[in-house]
Amino acid sequence: MTKSPTPYDAIILGAGGAGLMCAAIAGQRGRKVLLIDHVDQPGKKILISGGGRCNFTNIHTAPDRYLSANKHFAKSALSRYTAQDFIDLVNGHGIAWHEKTLGQLFCDGSAKQIVAMLMDQCPDDAVTLSLGQSVTGISHADGQYHVSYGGKNAAAPSLVIATGGPSIPKMGATSFAYDVARQFGLKIVEPRPALVPLTLGGEETLFRSLSGVSAPIVASCGKTAFREAALFTHKGLSGPAILQISSYWRHGEAVNVDFLPDLKPNWLTRLKREAPRLTLSRAVNTHLPARLAETLLDRIALSGDLGNLGDRKLEETGRRLSNWRFMPNGTEGYAKAEVTAGGISTAELSSKNMEARQMPGLYAIGEAVDVTGWLGGYNFQWAWASGWAAGQSL
Ligand code: FDA
Repeated sequence: MTKSPTPYDAIILGAGGAGLMCAAIAGQRGRKVLLIDHVDQPGKKILISGGGRCNFTNIHTAPDRYLSANKHFAKSALSRYTAQDFIDLVNGHGIAWHEKTLGQLFCDGSAKQIVAMLMDQCPDDAVTLSLGQSVTGISHADGQYHVSYGGKNAAAPSLVIATGGPSIPKMGATSFAYDVARQFGLKIVEPRPALVPLTLGGEETLFRSLSGVSAPIVASCGKTAFREAALFTHKGLSGPAILQISSYWRHGEAVNVDFLPDLKPNWLTRLKREAPRLTLSRAVNTHLPARLAETLLDRIALSGDLGNLGDRKLEETGRRLSNWRFMPNGTEGYAKAEVTAGGISTAELSSKNMEARQMPGLYAIGEAVDVTGWLGGYNFQWAWASGWAAGQSL
């Protein structure tokens, strides 16, 4: 009896950034690939990213800009497929781009160009795309992964989990990656919303009245600090500095905010010598939006001319403004989280090709894995790099 032929070399679950890159690379290497997604469009998160212009990479990509239980895990993939490699691909497709700030590269035109480029990279005769079909069953027998989807069945010696994390469920995001991983005995690092606004409760709800006010600050949690803008919202705190620190924040911890990062804590006592008749309120107003200055000084409960205020009180005020302690009571959750931290444990995977150590032929890439980048193009770079690493190995 002859064995029935295997139609595919690999089945990739999820046509996001990581799955598309993986399919393209494997397809270019002559592998027959089936790429399955349950939504009706590939790369949906790419399309909405960066305000529709896709912050597709960051020129400062480095392993220390990623969170993971194993801080060394991302090194290999990131060093073999770099930001410059992706820039070369973008340039090769004539896509115009610009650096916005902090090494963040965006399309001049539209994120659609990135999706079109990735689709163009998938050879027609090698990559079969199945959209809008749910996966109803997965099994493994005789060295083959069997996948049932939309009333059909497919089998291949390799299966790639590229279905991302549960952030923004309304875009089709699910926890499916973790279910598949668990089915094959892979451990999961507890997932949590990351790059997400923080919420304030209790006495701190009064800051909600500042909704819409933003200021350049330094936000810190433990030893990690980010200097960028913060934005007050009707639920608490957001803006790039807060989104960044949210990935490091855990329930019960404080987030410290330096509202005056360019001033020394004793600036008020020095100013008092120069301008004793200046009111504290005007002094602080010079450096902060008026509504924010007013709210902070209300909380500190100090007012009057600098000359009438004691040095100790002024120094204490300076210190509080430079080290304001917020106690967030939570985050806005997966509905608002740009990414999911945690995920499939890197201890289960080879850092070279993303293959499961105990389950030959099973791979996990992209956001599904416990590797989470900073804000600013780092997460796409991880999707490209991990997808490339697996694509080279299929
Ligand atoms: P991704 O989530 O992109 O793809 C997973 C795919 O799997 C999806 O197509 C989904 O439909 C599919 N899927 C899920 N469950 C399935 C199931 N059960 N069966 C079949 N298919 C299933 N990053 C960055 O670097 N720069 C940026 O500008 C932005 N901007 C940004 C904006 C917003 C609003 C969000 C929500 C996120 C970003 N990000 C970002 C983060 C970035 O989008 C994210 O890290 C990558 O898209 C992750 O790529 P993946 O391919 O791993 O998952």
